[in-house]
This record gives sequence, C-alpha cells and structure tokens, in this order.
Amino acid sequence: MSDRETWATRVGFILAAVGSAVGLGNIWQFPFKTSTNGGAAFVFVYLLAAFLIGLPAILGEFVVGRRAKRNAIEAFERIDHPAWTVIGALGLFTGMWILSYYSVVGGWVLRYVLGSATGAYFGNPGDYFASVSVGADAVAFHAVFMALTAGIVAFGIEDGIEKATKVMVPSVLAILAGLAVYAFTLDGASAAYGYYLSPDFGYLLDNLGNIVPFAVSQAFFSLSLGMGAMITYSSYIDEDQSLPADGSTIVVLNTFVGLLAGLVVLPLLFVQFGSVPEGASGGGPGALFVSVATAFGNLGMAGRVVGLVFFFVVLIAALSSAISLLEVVTSYVVDKYGYDRKVAAFGFGGVLFLVGTLAAGDTAWLGWFDTIAYKFLLPVSVLLAVYFVGWVLGPVALDELEKGTDDISTFAPAWLWMIRTFVLAAVLATLLLGVNTLYEMPALPSF
Ligand code: PHE
Repeated sequence: MSDRETWATRVGFILAAVGSAVGLGNIWQFPFKTSTNGGAAFVFVYLLAAFLIGLPAILGEFVVGRRAKRNAIEAFERIDHPAWTVIGALGLFTGMWILSYYSVVGGWVLRYVLGSATGAYFGNPGDYFASVSVGADAVAFHAVFMALTAGIVAFGIEDGIEKATKVMVPSVLAILAGLAVYAFTLDGASAAYGYYLSPDFGYLLDNLGNIVPFAVSQAFFSLSLGMGAMITYSSYIDEDQSLPADGSTIVVLNTFVGLLAGLVVLPLLFVQFGSVPEGASGGGPGALFVSVATAFGNLGMAGRVVGLVFFFVVLIAALSSAISLLEVVTSYVVDKYGYDRKVAAFGFGGVLFLVGTLAAGDTAWLGWFDTIAYKFLLPVSVLLAVYFVGWVLGPVALDELEKGTDDISTFAPAWLWMIRTFVLAAVLATLLLGVNTLYEMPALPSF
C-alpha cells in the first residue's frame, strides 16, 4: 500500500479539486440557470447554498477520503463501515452516468472551438447547432473528448492530473477574467449587471419553491459532490494539510468562476438580445451554443477571436472536470484489482463513450440523463453521504477534520452540528422537491 500515490504539493491538490469543480456547471449552466431563474435572486440563493450547504458537505467527503486513503468504494470498508459502501457505489455510478453525456457536451465545445476559428456558425447559429449536436459529428467529437480525458487519467495522479490541472486552472481563471473585462466594454453591459447583481427579493419569495432546489442541486453538481470525486481526490492528501482551509479555498474559487462566467455571458446576451433571450429560457442543452454563438457572430472579426477564446476556456474547464469523474472508477479498479492504470482509464473511457453515443444521437436522451442526475441521483447520493458523516462517523469525522489544522475547536463542532441538522434537512428538502417534479420529465425518444 505504501506505493499508493499522493499529490506532490498542497497547491496541486487544491488546483486539481478546483479543476474538478470548475466545469460546464459553472460556465455553461450557471449563467443560464441564473438568466432563467430571476437573475440576481438566483445568484443570492446559490451563494447561500454553496457556503452553507456545499462547504460543509465537501468537508464531509474530504474527511472520508483522507481517513480511508482509498478509492470511493473501498473507503467505507477501510473506515470500518462496510455497509455504507453503498454510498461509494452510488457515487461511482452517478459519476459514470454523468460522464457519459458530459463528454458529449465536451465534444460540442471542442467543435465550437474549431467553428469559431473558421466562423462556421456565424451565418446561422441555430442550424449549425442542430447539425453538429447530434449524429456523426457529435459522436466523433465526443470520442475525441473522451480520449483526451482518458489520456490524462492514464498518466496518474502526479504526472497526469496534477500536472495538467496546474496549467489548466490558472489559465481558465486568467482567460475568463480577460473576457469579463472585454464584456464590460460592450454597450449595454450595464443592463446585464443590473439583472445579474441586484436581487429582486419579491420575485425570490414568489418563486422560492423553484429557485431553492435548483440552486442547491447546482451547488452540488458544481462542487462535484455526490460522485465520489472529492472522496477520491482527498484520498491522496497528506495528514498535515488543513481540510477546512483547502475546502474553503476550493468553494471560494469555484463560486468566483461561476460569477465570472456570468459577467462574460450575460453582457453578451444583453448586447445581442437586449434582455435574456426567449430561447434561453427552458435552458435546453443548446442555449449556450445558440445564443452565445449568435452574439459572437454579430461581433464581426472580434467575434471570431472572442468566440475561439471563450469556447477554448470552456473546453479546458470541462476537461479538468471530466478527468475527476473518470478517476473515480479508475482508482477503484487500480486499488482493488491491481489493473494497469492505462488499461483502466481507456477501458472505462471506451465503455462510457459507448453509453454516451445515446446522448450524441438525440439531445432528448441527453436531457433525460441530466434530469435524472440532477433531480435524483445527486441529491440521494449527497444525502446518504451527509447522513453518514454526521450521524454514523460523528466524532471520528471531527477527529479527522482537526488533523493538520491549528486550533479549530470551535469551528469543528459547529461544522458537525450543521451537517447533522441544517445540511441534512436542506438536502432532503431538495430531493423531495426535485422528485416531486420528476413527472415533468421529457418523454424518452423511441428507438
Ligand atoms: N463540477 C463539474 C462542473 O461543474 C462537474 C463534475 C461533477 C465534475 C462531478 C466531477 C464530478 O462542471
């Protein structure tokens, strides 16, 4: 066991975890959910959810991972609670479920990087999206995206994931900040800022039942919770590292990137459409691609450059998330069965590629996979994990949290108390509200 890898540096772990967290959830979904759920009102609830629910929950996953120093499934046996292995198994399943279609969207993004360079979508963004989002094109780019993901995971923790994310994450931050400055110079940006940043609390109160579960699930997805990813990554951390300090850094950076993405996307939309475009409401998988691409198309030559840079940043963010999803199952079969890492990464990448061809064949499948993940798999998985850490591990979790920290004897018990009560109740409420609307599921396409 002594040859199990660890992160080379503390920053390496933080960047990898931020890389996992920052992804399509921040840059693709967050601005669109914001724009269709009342703007700043949604942002306000999201911030509360990220810090009051997401942060305690991510610390819970870190505690399990570092205590066990093992993959997300065997972790529960290692810490003497084999019956709870079900949490790891559900997380692993959820992660694979999500990766299968996440990679399809990653493929679209790759396609759009190329399309921006040539101006391919400028003439008619709607038709362009319809032609590349399904069928042979979509399958081919999905294959490339999955292969890139497996390629990085195959190199392992230090040489693959840590090295890659060390370059990727700072680049995402820098480029997005640059784009936000560019967006600021567009006429009409100020209308977007008003919508984005000053909450309408009346709207919030009227729509609480909708906004809250959306914002909470968005926080889970964005923080990569409930998929074994954070358990796996934290299993490679040393004992002298402070989990609360690292966890807070990760949540702050992840939230910051989401906000920054909104500062890029919303001005573009307002400049183009004068408000949030109708087509974006309902969200639909194509919202980002069609409406943002329309905005780029109308910026002329500048649009090519900005479009290229924008989709490139989305691509690297998506890739650094996808690797954390593939790492969950890879670490499991490497730890448990001694599989060769390369074989495992490409083998599972291949299987998930095949599953994802369903979503690449019909966006209705993609929407269906995504809805099941959001409304059901994620909240159930987070609920079990939070319950386990709070009520089953309890004092052991406290002990692990305190390792590597200076004195946190007031913070730690408050954390455990939050996990046991407020966080647990909030996750349960999110699950119930989400399941309650499962009947709104899009009909499944027939073969
Ligand atoms: N957090 C990532 C995002 O926002 C998605 C993800 C979820 C990645 C779970 C890994 C694990 O896009």
